[in-house]
Amino acid sequence: MKIVAIVGSIRKDSYNLKLAKFIQSRYTEQFDLEILSIRELPFYDQDIENDPPQVVKDFKNKVANSDAVLWVTPEYNATIPGVLGNAIDWLSRVEKVMIGKPSWIVGASMGNLGTVKAQLHLRDILFAMGLSSPLLPGNEVYVGAVHEKFNDKGELIHEPTVQFLDKVVDNFINWFNHQNR
Ligand code: FNR
Repeated sequence: MKIVAIVGSIRKDSYNLKLAKFIQSRYTEQFDLEILSIRELPFYDQDIENDPPQVVKDFKNKVANSDAVLWVTPEYNATIPGVLGNAIDWLSRVEKVMIGKPSWIVGASMGNLGTVKAQLHLRDILFAMGLSSPLLPGNEVYVGAVHEKFNDKGELIHEPTVQFLDKVVDNFINWFNHQNR
C-alpha cells in the first residue's frame, strides 16, 4: 500500500514531521509512506487553478497516485495551520484528487489536548467539502505534551503512545482492506 503523508507544519524541527517520520519507519511492512512537502506550494489562487505551477501539479499527482492519505496536523489557534488549509484548497479544486481517497488523521501539540480542536475541524473540512470519502472512523490520535514524548534524536520514546499507534495502524489496515473488498 502506498500512502502519502501531508504534514501541516513546515518548520524543520516540527514534532508533527517527527511523528510522520516515526510512522514512516515503524510500519514499513504495512505500507510505504511518502512524506509530501507543502512548503513550496504557492498561496491557492483561483486565477491560476486551471494551470497551476508545476509544484502544485506534482503535489496533486502524488496524492492522486496514492492509495491513502495520512494527515498529520499541528494545532494553531485552535484550528489547523493556514499552510495545511492552503494545501487542502489546492487539492479540492479542478482535479478533485481527494474524492474517494481513504484517509486518516493524527496530530501532535505541546498542549495537553493534542490537537483535538484542529482534528475536529479537519474532519469537518474533509467531510463538508466532500473531499475525503472515506475517513477512518474513531482511532483518534491526539499526541499531547509532545515535547516530552520525543527525545533529542527525534525518537518517539513514550511507550503508551507507540502501543496506541500500533493498534491504530492495525485498525487502519483492516478498515482499508474492508473498504477495498
Ligand atoms: C501554537 N500552539 C498551539 N498548541 C495547541 O495545543 N493549541 C493551539 O491552539 C496552539 N496554537 C498555536 C499557534 C501558533 C501560531 C503556534 C506557532 C503554535 C503550539 C503548538 O502545539 C506547537 O508549536 C507545536 O510544536 C506545533 O507543531 P510542530 O510545528 O512542532 O509540528
